[in-house]
Amino acid sequence: MSPEEMLKSFPDQLQWEKTDIDRSLYRTITFCGMGGSGIVGDIAKSWLEHRGCNVVAISHRGYGLPNYVNGEEHLVICTSYSGNTEETISNFETAMKRDATVICISSGGKLEELAKKSGVLHLKVPSGFAPRYALGYMLSKILTLLGVEKDELEDAKENLKTSYEEIKKKGEEIANKLNGYIPIIYATPLTEACAFRWKTQINENSKTQAYFATLPEMHHNEVVGLDNAEIRSKCAFIVMFDLKDHERVRRRVDITIRLLKDLGIVPVAIGGDGNSYLARLLYLIHVGDWASYYLAGKYGFEPLPVKVIDWIKEELLKL
Ligand code: F6R
Repeated sequence: MSPEEMLKSFPDQLQWEKTDIDRSLYRTITFCGMGGSGIVGDIAKSWLEHRGCNVVAISHRGYGLPNYVNGEEHLVICTSYSGNTEETISNFETAMKRDATVICISSGGKLEELAKKSGVLHLKVPSGFAPRYALGYMLSKILTLLGVEKDELEDAKENLKTSYEEIKKKGEEIANKLNGYIPIIYATPLTEACAFRWKTQINENSKTQAYFATLPEMHHNEVVGLDNAEIRSKCAFIVMFDLKDHERVRRRVDITIRLLKDLGIVPVAIGGDGNSYLARLLYLIHVGDWASYYLAGKYGFEPLPVKVIDWIKEELLKL
């Protein structure tokens, strides 16, 4: 399947299933995963928090687990598209040792084997994709586990489908603006997961550096870096927001745009379009996915290969 076909399949990857768990049984939820599989935890965490869920949720990247994850009242969701990512396997093994409640998501690999051997719930996603292009499959497994309503997921999916041309067009326009510059994405707490996804999609698909910072924290440091005219002239700026951002954050978004304009920079200001927070998140993510795809073309790169990531994984297997 071509990267374009994989991208196009994103809305249809969103499939609701009746697999919800009783969240009241857990004191914490730890989403584990790296890269294209790790981002699903960030999105799920944002979605849970926006719903007002009172369970502590964290997105954990790296080996082991925080010490407080100890006992069955702690839910650990291990997501690895390939099922072979060593950090995620390490999370699984630690969670099992600590008697946490574990759920695994993968298209196969070691994680599936280990889950089955240990009698742990394993949710399988279709194989044949690059992990970052299978976001919809992995995310809908997690959201349905967490109790997303069928209507909410269907509405977000429909929103992507009806806005398909508009999303692609925005992606292409943004790619034109980013071409030749280092993308710097300024986000709000509600759009931070989107900014991270944009950054990583630009890294992996377009093969270029990209960075992000989040309000309000960036008003206490990042903005001072804008004083450097030489460096800022090498950057293209994106400001993203959500209509449900805290009112003081919205005020800060306006101030940030004004600050950039006063420096002669016209940032791309973008919010997601949709009826629900989830619909807007997925809309914004999909604009970034297309932008990174078009940007790859402008730089003459194939979006799919991530040779250096593969090389590092092979090197680690030797040790
Ligand atoms: C490749 C990609 C990577 C992987 C990451 C973890 O498309 O996006 O960021 O997602 O190396 O691998 P998995 O997802 O197989 O656990």
